[in-house]
Amino acid sequence: MKIRDSVAFVTGANRGIGLAFAQELLTGGARKVYAAARQPERIPLAGVESVRLDVTSPEDVAAAARQCTDVNLLINNAGIALWTGFLAPDSIEAARSEMETNTSGGRACRSRRHRYGQRNYSSKGQAYIRSSTSAERSRSRGR
Ligand SMILES: NC(=O)c1ccc[n+]([C@@H]2O[C@H](COP(=O)([O-])OP(=O)(O)OC[C@H]3O[C@@H](n4cnc5c(N)ncnc54)[C@H](OP(=O)(O)O)[C@@H]3O)[C@@H](O)[C@H]2O)c1
Repeated sequence: MKIRDSVAFVTGANRGIGLAFAQELLTGGARKVYAAARQPERIPLAGVESVRLDVTSPEDVAAAARQCTDVNLLINNAGIALWTGFLAPDSIEAARSEMETNTSGGRACRSRRHRYGQRNYSSKGQAYIRSSTSAERSRSRGR
């Protein structure tokens, strides 16, 4: 994976590992870093382009794809772990939320990437990284 001169997009970039990804991408020489968050005004990092994105919102995902057409490195970091007990009264609702955020949300962002990526992913080194516990991981074209 090539960081220098990449155009990266990080979901859940307002805190935690996502914020660290965005920071490291800047340090590593990414040409542009889109930092996406449900509340982009809370991203405590200069030098990034903020994007409003709730990964469970098809409208947000579509808008981000229209706005960020030059991305060649997508880091699908946003995720939740509710640690709800299997027999807890709200266990089904919690499991649905986790699936919707960690799996469906990530897949929606990834499929959008493929759509607009047809133009931008023609050179080597593109990557898709999923850092959620649902654990799909790094895919580079040509591997
Ligand atoms: N930390 C670990 O030890 C560990 C281990 C394995 C896997 N992971 C995975 O790594 C990722 C980041 O972990 P973390 O420790 O940095 O978690 P974190 O501190 O809880 O941060 C989660 C991030 O995801 C965002 N997010 C949650 N739901 C979202 C949604 N619907 N749309 C957009 N953003 C959303 C949060 O935004 P808000 O601020 O708006 O809530 C926050 O920015 C997660 O996917 C997690 O499952 C972490």
